[in-house]
Amino acid sequence: MEAGLNNKTILVMGGAGFIGSNFIRSLFSTYPDARIVNVDKLTYSGNLDNLRDIEKEKRYVFVKGDVADRKKITFIFSKYTPDFVINFCAETHVDRSIHVGALEFVRTNVEGVFNLLEAVKQSPRVKKYVQVSTDETFGSIPLNSRRKFREDTAFAPNVPYAATKAGGDLLCRAYHSTWKVPVVVTHCSNNYGPFQYPEKLIPFFITRIMEGKKVPLYGDGKNVRDWIYVLDHCRALERCLLSGKAGEVYNIGADNEMSNLTIARLILKRFNKDESWIEFVADRPGHDRRYAIDANKIKKELGWKPVYDFRKAFDLTVDWYTHHLTWINRVREKTGVFNPHIDLWKAHTSK
Ligand SMILES: NC(=O)c1ccc[n+]([C@@H]2O[C@H](COP(=O)([O-])OP(=O)(O)OC[C@H]3O[C@@H](n4cnc5c(N)ncnc54)[C@H](O)[C@@H]3O)[C@@H](O)[C@H]2O)c1
Repeated sequence: MEAGLNNKTILVMGGAGFIGSNFIRSLFSTYPDARIVNVDKLTYSGNLDNLRDIEKEKRYVFVKGDVADRKKITFIFSKYTPDFVINFCAETHVDRSIHVGALEFVRTNVEGVFNLLEAVKQSPRVKKYVQVSTDETFGSIPLNSRRKFREDTAFAPNVPYAATKAGGDLLCRAYHSTWKVPVVVTHCSNNYGPFQYPEKLIPFFITRIMEGKKVPLYGDGKNVRDWIYVLDHCRALERCLLSGKAGEVYNIGADNEMSNLTIARLILKRFNKDESWIEFVADRPGHDRRYAIDANKIKKELGWKPVYDFRKAFDLTVDWYTHHLTWINRVREKTGVFNPHIDLWKAHTSK
């Protein structure tokens, strides 16, 4: 076990969401003496049920707070004096940014990052701030191309979510260049695993089938994503906190490209359903065709590599949702229908 994060205070922003809660649980088991302060606004995707097994631990504190609230962030930094900061806070759902509006995306994904950078700039105690970002900032790659996103690939976001994430990432770059703020930015591919709010592809499809509804696929279903198990992502982020070089960018991915159609078929097979359960709907605007990550830099420089086998981790994930009906029902009670936008889009485009 590494001493690295033991006896340190790690400020986890947005730790009640999917990846953040998996990250906290993973850190807790690896570092028995690490202290964690989890700050989360508890938007629709933030869920304290994700951390019930940890919430009573003495070395864990939860604070309800908005990353876009500058005063609150200043207060949190002065009260808890973190050694490390990692930011998962984000508005993340592309459909929402298209159909509901992008203002909240700008507040959380750009202004929120600005607030954290300002706070880190004024806190010499902070050794590292990791800004968790996405491969979607790089735009789209044609299906037949051999190209992959590298750390120096130019940003070319096609949807407001990706544009606001790119805005936050660029602020990180500028704060390091100008003030040497010790920030590292990561770009990861699509995550799957337990505790993901069921508006995202895999849990959305699983919950649809469990409700006896067809799974809706945008366009021809051939859009390709690079899939990584959430705990592989969490281990990569831990490496970035400990050994990532300030000012650097690291891509994280598992070389596991699959079309949405393939994912839908794999899920249907687990439920013994045939393809009549797939419903193709008109494509959404700005829908990127393919993401593909070149993760050689983090492998070479930080010694990380993914260890989870896709088929095993995918089966574990499907089983997790089918065995956690109470979790799903409580989320539904609190937030309503999962991804209503796709049904509205279906109605709109079939007129
Ligand atoms: N899910 C993926 O496949 C994926 C892939 C690559 C990168 N990422 C990035 O990882 C991060 C976490 O993603 P996720 O899938 O866990 O998302 P999520 O929606 O499950 O979690 C986001 C969390 O942030 C909190 N939050 C939102 N706005 C906030 C605000 N203004 N102040 C404080 N808290 C706020 C929410 O309550 C929630 O707990 C995001 O930054 C996302 O861009 C996600």
